Amino acid sequence: MTSKHRILWGSATSSFQIEGGATQDGKGPSIWDTFCRIPGKIGDQSNGDIACDHYNRIESDVNLMQELGLDTYRFSISWPRIFPEGTGTLNRKGLAFYDRLVDALLAKGIEPYPTLYHWDLPQALQDKGGWTNPNISDWFADYIEPVVSQLADRVHNWTTLNEPHVFCFLGYGLPVHAPGAADRTQYMQAIRNALLAHGKAAQRIRGIHKQLRVGIANCWPLPQPLDPSHAEAANRLDQLTNRIYFDPIIHGTVPPWVAQCMAEKGVTITDEDLKQIHQPLDFLGINYYMRMLASSTGDPAKPYTMQHPRYDGAEITDCGWEVYPEGLEIILKTIRDDYGNIPVFITENGCAYNDGIMADGLIHDKRRQRYYESHIKAMHRAIDDGCDVRGYFAWSLMDNFEWAHGYSQRFGIVYVDYKDDCKRIIKDSGYWYQYMIRQYKKRFTL
Ligand code: FCB
Repeated sequence: MTSKHRILWGSATSSFQIEGGATQDGKGPSIWDTFCRIPGKIGDQSNGDIACDHYNRIESDVNLMQELGLDTYRFSISWPRIFPEGTGTLNRKGLAFYDRLVDALLAKGIEPYPTLYHWDLPQALQDKGGWTNPNISDWFADYIEPVVSQLADRVHNWTTLNEPHVFCFLGYGLPVHAPGAADRTQYMQAIRNALLAHGKAAQRIRGIHKQLRVGIANCWPLPQPLDPSHAEAANRLDQLTNRIYFDPIIHGTVPPWVAQCMAEKGVTITDEDLKQIHQPLDFLGINYYMRMLASSTGDPAKPYTMQHPRYDGAEITDCGWEVYPEGLEIILKTIRDDYGNIPVFITENGCAYNDGIMADGLIHDKRRQRYYESHIKAMHRAIDDGCDVRGYFAWSLMDNFEWAHGYSQRFGIVYVDYKDDCKRIIKDSGYWYQYMIRQYKKRFTL
């Protein structure tokens, strides 16, 4: 692998998925706390009250990261821990938790890489419409300001939002994620407001210190046509899933077909909005998991349907996602070609395999190791082809609350024994990751 830059190796988590401490130290309820209480929403009827109890285990969890040899750790900040009501009075104890986490990481030489929003919106703000309320971009900017100010002397890279596509589409377009609306108008409003929130936050962050670096973590499910006759369906899927988040931010434009979809619902991203949204970006976070196959329906009201690839010999993970490492290479090259080769961090990549503890007390998750090997190789091919990749975060550091699946899907390189006080056990894939990082550090190449 040839790269001008040293790759940083990390792992990622998010607040709601691991912290627990749902009401500790004054934390307010988030939309996920509420959503988990609606019967039928979470596959295993679980919730995030305890999760992995990370809130009470900073020290041992950071020791684990050090043992794995991580350079960096991506986590998210829980808005309702900082502002229990979303706006108004700041909860000092909530902020102190992240202060301690950052110090603990730095003491072990691990670079903190926080995300300011990973889906746990304060319920009090959802009561006012959440991401559909035009004021939310200001609420978001007001929330992040004291957080960034407090940590800016130690934290230099700030990710604004995690996967706006997922929280807008699955939360407002479909009832799969919190808050569970299923309304196309709300979906279109949420997209516009999320883009504005990113832009306003980017400006606030730079206002705190001009050397702070700003990015966003977007997912990029790779859209491909079911067969060549469905190319237009794949194009539309790409516009509404990916390009609507990259184009306004990086190019200051809106993909034409999405602009039309929005207009049909009375939503417009104006030139004034675009000025706010189109802010310089220091890095782009890419969360890569899968490709999706698009096909046209023939019905103008429904321009495409999508499906997970299924074919003889396909490797499918336990949550039903196809293993397709080539997709990562294709996406990195697309960013190189269409978005000016902006520096990229793979902010998430990983797989659900639910291997359990074997008789020897260990977790032999060979399939996960193979998954990482193949995706890291794909990333290398892209780097060799000139893509500017700066870092890679394995999703996830530990098994955790996987949204609508609850705890039934395990993505960790560390096993969490929920039946035994959330005990952590490094999986074979974790030891492999540790070995890979050590080898890389010896030569700064693989
Ligand atoms: C991503 C989310 C992350 C995790 C993985 C499996 O879409 O950002 O929180 O759930 O999927």
